[in-house]
Amino acid sequence: MKALEDYLHAPKFKCCLTGQKTESTSRSRFQMEETDRILERVASIRPERLLDVGCGCGGFTVKLSPHCREITAIDSSQALIDRCKEENARANITYVCMDGRDIRHPDSSFDLVLERMALHHIREWEEALSEMIRVSSKHLVIEEPIDDARSEEKKNARSARELFLALENEVGYSHYEYLPEDTLTQYFHRREISIESEIIKSDKLVDFDQFFRSFGDFAEKSSRKEYWLDRLESFKRELDGRKLCEEDIAFIAARKS
Ligand SMILES: C[S@@+](CC[C@H](N)C(=O)[O-])C[C@H]1O[C@@H](n2cnc3c(N)ncnc32)[C@H](O)[C@@H]1O
Repeated sequence: MKALEDYLHAPKFKCCLTGQKTESTSRSRFQMEETDRILERVASIRPERLLDVGCGCGGFTVKLSPHCREITAIDSSQALIDRCKEENARANITYVCMDGRDIRHPDSSFDLVLERMALHHIREWEEALSEMIRVSSKHLVIEEPIDDARSEEKKNARSARELFLALENEVGYSHYEYLPEDTLTQYFHRREISIESEIIKSDKLVDFDQFFRSFGDFAEKSSRKEYWLDRLESFKRELDGRKLCEEDIAFIAARKS
C-alpha cells in the first residue's frame, strides 16, 4: 500500500509522488457542485456524531466540521491519517486509522455516516457499505463516480480507466472500476433502505494528455515502466485522436427507518 500512501487524488492537491501541485483531472472530478451537495445535506441534518469513511488527507472532512458536533474520520492508510492530524486538525474531529470493512464501533453509533469517493478504492465495497449501514442510526450519504458507457467518448474513458487501473493496482494503489448506478441503488433496495438518488451527468470531453497526466508518475513506481509507457502509446494510437469523457457522479442519501 506504499503507493497509496504516497499518492492521493484530490483537487489541486500537492501530489506526494511528484511534490507538485496539480489540478483535478477527469479521473478525480471533485467539483464544487458535488461537494456543495454533501455539505448542504450535512448542514440540514446537523448531526451530533458523523462518521467519514475513507477521509484521505482530511481536506473534505474539515469542511464538514462546522456542521457537526463531533466527527470521527477513518482511513485505512496510517500515513494519510498522520497527514490529516498534521494538516487538518480541528477540535471536533478525531482521525483514526481503521478499515471501512471492519468499523470498530457498535451498531447505530453515528447519526450520519458518509463516504465521498472512497468506495471505488475498496474491492469489497459491499462489506464497507454494510458496515456503514450498521453503524448508522439514521442517515447515510454517499457520493461516487459511476460508470455509464452511453457514448463513444464514455466508452473510450472506460477503456482508458482499465489501462490506468491495471497500472495503479500493480504499484499497490487500490483503485477499481466505477460501479454502475444500478449496482449501488439495488444494494440499498436489497437491504430495504429507501434512498434519494441523483446522477450528476457530464458529457464534458477530456483530452488524452489531461486524462493520463499522472500515468508517468505511477509508471515510475513500477519495475515495468517501459512496458506501461509502451501500452500507453499503443492506446493513444488506437484512440487516434478520439476523445474521452468525464465521469458521472452519483449522490445517494439514505435514511434507515
Ligand atoms: C479518493 S480518496 C477520498 C478522500 C476523501 N473522502 C475526499 O473526498 O477527499 C479514497 C480514500 O479511501 C481510502 N480507503 C481505501 N480503502 C479503504 C478501506 N478499506 N477503509 C477505509 N478507507 C479506505 C484510501 O486510503 C483513500 O484515502
